[in-house]
Amino acid sequence: MAAARVASVFRSGLFNERVAIITGGGTGIGKTIARELLNLGCKVVIASRKGERLNKSADEMRQELDKDSPAKLEAIQCNIRNEEQIKSLISFTLDKFGKIDYLVNNGGGQFPSRLGDMSTKGWNAVIETNLTGTFQMTREVYNSWMKDHGGSIVNIVVNNWNGFPGMGHTGAARAGVVNMTKTLALEWAHEGIRINCVAPGTVYSETAAANYGGSDIFSGSIPDMPTKRLGTVEEVSAAVCFLLSPAAAFISGSTIKVDGAASLFKHQLFDIPDHDKTPAYTWGKSDAPTLKDTVETTDIKSKL
Ligand code: ADE
Repeated sequence: MAAARVASVFRSGLFNERVAIITGGGTGIGKTIARELLNLGCKVVIASRKGERLNKSADEMRQELDKDSPAKLEAIQCNIRNEEQIKSLISFTLDKFGKIDYLVNNGGGQFPSRLGDMSTKGWNAVIETNLTGTFQMTREVYNSWMKDHGGSIVNIVVNNWNGFPGMGHTGAARAGVVNMTKTLALEWAHEGIRINCVAPGTVYSETAAANYGGSDIFSGSIPDMPTKRLGTVEEVSAAVCFLLSPAAAFISGSTIKVDGAASLFKHQLFDIPDHDKTPAYTWGKSDAPTLKDTVETTDIKSKL
């Protein structure tokens, strides 16, 4: 029997006897993924840079486990920018549980800033964590276990398909992760490894609200979302569990967007002020009327 306190649409015992590592597993999306995997019988190792907060989360989640659940939870401090700490995380997991079936690369971080205002130090920090850290974790899990035994990897990325104004460092890093995912889906296919991404849209979590200075960033997004509501961490976790599970056996190199179609609609919390700075096409300049003379701006929305 698995713990009953977390809702999951997946069948009880789906991940019995499976072992997962989740980076950034002490808060937000990562913590919810840990909870759902535990609920489905998985043995889970959560890792995070901040050990104290991680251990608190682990204690909380352990208390939720039913006495007779096969699920187990371990927590270990690990900075994914540090190769030695990654190696320790992996040998800890192999010592405790004997294998690694799943890796969820969820650990990452960013801060709001336009690129023009960003220091190279700030840029590098985000690239090193979100892109290089994800690469290092993935490579080490591959070389230590999955190369010989197969496995499934899910990388948490971001809704950055039309650029990511206001957080261009993480947009660039996650675009790199999506491309790395496609490469590895091919390089490791013959070793029985599947690797995919989940790209959340605007999803509310208390940790994210604290990181980004309150809940305004979330409530301000709602009018520009097709769903007219925020996503939840549980909705992201469900996509991750699906991709890890045998239901996704024929899916690799893909990205599932969990964004309520927001990426098809418009940028949230970003607008471009009215301006006349777009350079004109002046090659072979003529006296023809300008576009501005020809087309008047109209409020077409009110007529549709
Ligand atoms: N979460 C945010 N930054 C991290 C890092 N450097 N290592 C692990 N988890 C993280």
